[in-house]
Amino acid sequence: MQKKLISVSIDGLLGPKVLDDVPLFLSTQAKSAALNKFQSFKKNPQNYFSSTYRQTSPQLIQIETAAQQKRQTFSNLVVLGIGGSALGAQTLVSALGWKMPKKERPEVFFLDNLDPILISEIFEDLDPIKTLICVVSKSGTTLETLAPLGPIWNWIKNADTTRPSNHFVVITDPKVGPLRKWAQDEKILSFEVPADLGGRFSAFSPVCLFPAAFAGINIHTLVEGASNFFNDSQFLEETLNPMAARLFELEKGGFRAHSLWAYSSFLKNFSSWFVQLWGESLGKRNFEKNRVGLIPCPGVGATDQHSFLQRMAEGRNDIVSGFVKIQNWPEVKSGIGNSALLPMDFKALSGVRGQSFGKILNTEALATEISLQELGRPTYSATLNSLDEASVGALLAFYMDFTVVSGIYLGVNPFDQPGVERAKALFFEHL
Ligand code: PA5
Repeated sequence: MQKKLISVSIDGLLGPKVLDDVPLFLSTQAKSAALNKFQSFKKNPQNYFSSTYRQTSPQLIQIETAAQQKRQTFSNLVVLGIGGSALGAQTLVSALGWKMPKKERPEVFFLDNLDPILISEIFEDLDPIKTLICVVSKSGTTLETLAPLGPIWNWIKNADTTRPSNHFVVITDPKVGPLRKWAQDEKILSFEVPADLGGRFSAFSPVCLFPAAFAGINIHTLVEGASNFFNDSQFLEETLNPMAARLFELEKGGFRAHSLWAYSSFLKNFSSWFVQLWGESLGKRNFEKNRVGLIPCPGVGATDQHSFLQRMAEGRNDIVSGFVKIQNWPEVKSGIGNSALLPMDFKALSGVRGQSFGKILNTEALATEISLQELGRPTYSATLNSLDEASVGALLAFYMDFTVVSGIYLGVNPFDQPGVERAKALFFEHL
């Protein structure tokens, strides 16, 4: 791959006013120790890098072929899953699914909540004969995913009495869990979530790759983009590790939140994916029993410039802000055109005349970042080469690595989520 898929600038974390507030204090040795720890973790065969690499071509082809075969019969996909079993696929489908011409595009729905209105809205007009249901649950035991399965099975069975199993795909643990057993009993096409892979790190496994392939996304290029990033040891050393170290210093110095704005509406789900990845991985008690973790705050530029920006600019100085931009906006077909034009005489905005919408958006991102820097607010920016498979693969890989290296500085296990268990237990007491 020739082009840099993602480049990151951390200058805004090191501006003079930011350094006045929170000086650099981590030693070179401490940073090297964190880097070494991460590098040895990377060599461990049981982690999300290995799970990505395990998607060697035959496995990818298997997922792709199955998705294409299902596409020949089904024009709708409903994904049943929640948290890490939905957010990654939602991110991919919204960031990349638009590339297929609208008329050829399958409808993809995510049933990630037991909201009765959502369930009814999804199924009200769907033709069961044309609908494929993809049930995704690593554990195979998740309430929100399993509870609607019975009614959906009956809905399909009533319409297709001979081959209901054909309408289902199951993605779950290779061996354990009731979902695996159900798939075996009903002879449902299934894929395995590698046993060592946690939900929020599963973007490059069948969890996300099957729905993505069904939506027409090139999963080979996506995985290649991610692998390309995971192999970039220079970036890890020169940018990612110093960046994670700096966020740790800022948190120690009193910063409380990590805001992330992607400057594309099609990356809105990416912001939600980031919230889960960052919040569930890092917000916990560390090995010294201290409570840690910056609060993840999702946003979309330029939309949120008219919403949360005021708090970021003039509220308490406790937010670290990340901005994701797209360098080369893809060609789009639209009768509306690609550039700005005002129908009236309005001097204040006359400068945008003839400028492409992509350029305007990127300039808004830049101006917003500079405005925060002027106020001594720490910022960083990540620029994607384009909104394409390879760049989005690199983007997700970047945030996975960023989260895990941050976990090393904070002294937490980024792969567990003990804090969510109590609510599950209380649920049955209160039902
Ligand atoms: O990141 C995680 O591990 C969690 O958010 C899970 O993805 C989520 O709880 C769903 O779990 P499961 O895939 O077992 O249904």
